[in-house]
Amino acid sequence: MDLNNKTVIVTGASKGIGRAISIELAKEGAIVVLAARTKEKLIEVKKNIDSFNGKSLIVPADMSREEDILKLFSKVKEEFGKLDILINNAGIFIGGNLVDFDISDYEKIMNVNFKAVFLCCQQALKIMIPQKNGFIINISSNVVFKGYPQQAIYSASKNAVVGLSKSMANEVQKDGISVALIHPGGVDTELIDSARPDINKSDLMPPEDIAKTIIYMLKLSDNSWVDEIIIRRRTAKPF
Ligand SMILES: NC(=O)c1ccc[n+]([C@@H]2O[C@H](COP(=O)([O-])OP(=O)(O)OC[C@H]3O[C@@H](n4cnc5c(N)ncnc54)[C@H](OP(=O)(O)O)[C@@H]3O)[C@@H](O)[C@H]2O)c1
Repeated sequence: MDLNNKTVIVTGASKGIGRAISIELAKEGAIVVLAARTKEKLIEVKKNIDSFNGKSLIVPADMSREEDILKLFSKVKEEFGKLDILINNAGIFIGGNLVDFDISDYEKIMNVNFKAVFLCCQQALKIMIPQKNGFIINISSNVVFKGYPQQAIYSASKNAVVGLSKSMANEVQKDGISVALIHPGGVDTELIDSARPDINKSDLMPPEDIAKTIIYMLKLSDNSWVDEIIIRRRTAKPF
């Protein structure tokens, strides 16, 4: 696909992987809607995109609030009248032993990592189904293939995203919509600093590699689609 002037929402665009995805998409000519809570960081990302005459729009939004999600999608509809691509990237990590895992931490994780993905997909489909075209990429994690201790609820939230994505992909294929999953492991961001402090910083993947992976997926010919990609640190255990 030619990404020029494609309208893309990137959730969690203020830092880490989402920031890198937003910048790479803007370099390809896409109009990138930058959504996250921290306005100052979104302004920094927008300035970076402005520096190469890229196109972006800041929409501050807390993904754990349904009203913010509804506002985000109505703003996009109002501004552009279409949505070509949604990238559900916003996510949080809270670790801890399952035996005494706090219910409020469970809710925080599920609200951002899963419920927001569900609501954003639902809102995107309301625009994409009438268009008869659209692409949704959900950022999952390598944890869905493993069983890391102290990560049960984070892992459950990402497994929920996998289930939602696979069913949705089959449900909306007839409407011209394609859905993909990316399962990264060990990217150099603030999230990994708290999730895996044991990993050497020098072994971590740069967020730009996840961004380039997304660009690769989206830029294939219109006849091709990649359902999912597992991308890991080169020093991590294969498979
Ligand atoms: N780093 C890794 O190794 C790794 C591996 C596998 C999967 N992932 C996944 O990749 C995604 C991005 O993570 P990252 O590593 O880039 O983490 P990060 O650097 O901590 O960035 C997380 C992003 O999510 C946003 N976010 C968090 N809570 C939000 C909320 N309530 N509303 C709106 N935005 C919110 C943050 O923005 P604000 O704080 O400004 O709201 C930020 O932009 C996550 O889904 C994560 O689970 C990461």
